[in-house]
Amino acid sequence: MTPWAIALVVLAVPIGILLLSLLLFGPIYRALTRKCSENVRLDGKTVVVTGASAGLGKATALELAKRGARVIMGCRNLTKAQPVADDIISKSGNTNVVVRHLELSDFASVRKFAAQINAEEEALHILINNAGIAGTKNKEVASCGHELVLATNHYGHFLLTHLLMGKLKAGTSSRVINVSSALHADGQLDIEDLNFDRRRYRFEHAYSQSKLANVLFTKELARRLKGSGVVTNVLHPGSVNTEVLRRPNQALSVFLFGRFISPIIFRTETQGAQTQLYLALSEEGGCESGCYYVNCRKARSSRESCDSDLAKKLWEVSCKNVHLEPAEMIPDSRLDSSSSENPRDASQRRRIGHSDFT
Ligand SMILES: NC(=O)c1ccc[n+]([C@@H]2O[C@H](COP(=O)([O-])OP(=O)(O)OC[C@H]3O[C@@H](n4cnc5c(N)ncnc54)[C@H](OP(=O)(O)O)[C@@H]3O)[C@@H](O)[C@H]2O)c1
Repeated sequence: MTPWAIALVVLAVPIGILLLSLLLFGPIYRALTRKCSENVRLDGKTVVVTGASAGLGKATALELAKRGARVIMGCRNLTKAQPVADDIISKSGNTNVVVRHLELSDFASVRKFAAQINAEEEALHILINNAGIAGTKNKEVASCGHELVLATNHYGHFLLTHLLMGKLKAGTSSRVINVSSALHADGQLDIEDLNFDRRRYRFEHAYSQSKLANVLFTKELARRLKGSGVVTNVLHPGSVNTEVLRRPNQALSVFLFGRFISPIIFRTETQGAQTQLYLALSEEGGCESGCYYVNCRKARSSRESCDSDLAKKLWEVSCKNVHLEPAEMIPDSRLDSSSSENPRDASQRRRIGHSDFT
């Protein structure tokens, strides 16, 4: 054998093994997806899904529309979102699906979106804070003045949830579902430097910080909502082949991975939507609060995400940064003993949570 032939074999064997593993991994990973098998109708219920123009949000909106809900799609690009809504209407046969403009990184837009819902809807039963972006290659600053990834993935949803809380409380046994990521576990949240002014910006750090913020927000929100009739949970949807890794302002490596590898090894959008659907529809999703879910099951989130002091600090900084008025704030139940839940409230909430969504 010539040296060239030996070199070729040495290269070809590992590449072949890698390709074979990739081809095998995808089907196995997809086959392990748990399906939300809840047999629940949502007639008469109103749901908001942010980022419903693509990916997991689109798949979630379709399934909720099939179950009879009024679906409000919060989307930043109406030209892209309207045909998606039309497709959902034609596939579900539910005409009660509307698109409203929502740019999460612009607080004026979030306020306008919430004001319209507060004016038009009697109550809101499910809020799915789903929209998100992966880290942009270079640091970008949103119109609200904050780093774009945190502004989109955390601040926008933080503000929106506050502004819709009155309508959520008006619905019986309402649910706030936050879409995080397993990458929250890599997140480091520097309360003094959330905008990466002093730290070196890296897209993966910006993303994992924002996803850690999603988990901390959920846990603090759950504490504050105890006894209110509104529950909140957070989830990792798995690795899903969506547009999130194929945006133009991303690092080339991420873009290439999203373009060529994720279609082979990741879950489909419908599979990826199962955990948020499970939290929206299941009895468990209506009585648990402050929990982290993966593949339709409760899981452990990172140690840092369970740091209640950090959650409280992030909450306070977020209130300030999104410019919440005192009347819009959700009070801290730990400072108000009269709002703590007694066992009778809990059993009542469990009962409503199940029967109300059937
Ligand atoms: N895919 C995964 O493997 C994966 C893994 C873990 C977590 N997640 C999380 O899952 C969620 C959904 O992501 P996806 O995978 O479905 O991504 P996607 O296909 O890129 O969809 C993201 C959605 O969010 C919208 N969006 C982005 N920025 C927005 C803004 N500033 N204001 C309003 N809407 C905005 C997008 O709108 P346009 O269509 O107009 O761009 C789109 O509708 C995200 O929170 C993501 O972090 C995804």
